Amino acid sequence: MCYFISPFYFKVPFRLREYFYKKQKFTIEIGFGNGDFMIHLAEKEPEYGYLGVEVSSRSVLKLTKKLYSHGITNVRTIKLNAYMLFSIIEPAFSVSRVIYNFPDPWPDAPSRRVSSKKHLLLIHRILRKDGSFYLATDSDVLKEDMEKNAGELFYIEKSKSPYFDFRTKYERRWLSERKNIIYYRLRPATYNGDYPVLNFEGGISVAHVIFRLKDEKKDPQLNLPVRLRLEDTVIFIDRPYSREREHLYPVLVKEKGFVQKTFFKLYFTHDEARLVLFDTSYLVTTKGIRMAMACLRDMLLKTGIFEIKRDTT
Ligand SMILES: C[S@@+](CC[C@H](N)C(=O)[O-])C[C@H]1O[C@@H](n2cnc3c(N)ncnc32)[C@H](O)[C@@H]1O
Repeated sequence: MCYFISPFYFKVPFRLREYFYKKQKFTIEIGFGNGDFMIHLAEKEPEYGYLGVEVSSRSVLKLTKKLYSHGITNVRTIKLNAYMLFSIIEPAFSVSRVIYNFPDPWPDAPSRRVSSKKHLLLIHRILRKDGSFYLATDSDVLKEDMEKNAGELFYIEKSKSPYFDFRTKYERRWLSERKNIIYYRLRPATYNGDYPVLNFEGGISVAHVIFRLKDEKKDPQLNLPVRLRLEDTVIFIDRPYSREREHLYPVLVKEKGFVQKTFFKLYFTHDEARLVLFDTSYLVTTKGIRMAMACLRDMLLKTGIFEIKRDTT
């Protein structure tokens, strides 16, 4: 069972129904953190399909492990900026609930806040007319923003008591510090204007290998494609797209909970070569991805052209 929706596979527009078997109602949780809140809801209300959207690889990994151990089938995860996803979900007005517990307040970056007009519009865009956006926060800047921005798009209900019977990790922390938490429930009001469309952002690489060159002129010739099975992981590395002193290796990794397709890039500087993840913005750097990079590293070492200078796989 693959819980993780890789952005390399999903089609644009993103149709929730394609990822859930026979589900008609959908809940999206933004920034699920350790995922315990979503597991609780998914077990309690199995009639919903749950999509968790997180930017943190670590959170996606943690939740995927928990979904396996609980044997839950109605949850999917995606590693993406939630607002980008919201601008490509079709049909619009199809999600019953959007939940965001304790968003980062971004004190110095108002445009990144969930309470910015642009982000509220994107949430409005995907909610059913009878749907709700649940937001819990202790942050004064978010509360102020909500007063300013939300009234134009939503009917606002505010409460001192939570709407759900599960306390999240951050909630427990702020409760123990006696912070003033407000629980919002926002129902969409009529809006006839346009909705923003966001562009996908790039990322930075994490796992990489730096080689010292024993022979500065030679390019590696590897015996590809290759398919390997290591423990529970299947790795496929294809022939590269090559141009002068640069090779792009298509890689497919299937492992517990994940199927991911990506590229590893090998490029040369005057006395070094670097093997890096081509693009990490949609990738979760799982054990399998690291194993695949280590496989390619070993194949490269066998050519005799390289020796390791640095290796973070
Ligand atoms: C303060 S934590 C709250 C975690 C959890 N909801 C809780 O209450 O314990 C905020 C979470 O939102 C995630 N996050 C921040 N911006 C995001 C975005 N644009 N899209 C998806 N997740 C995001 C962060 O990675 C982080 O896990």
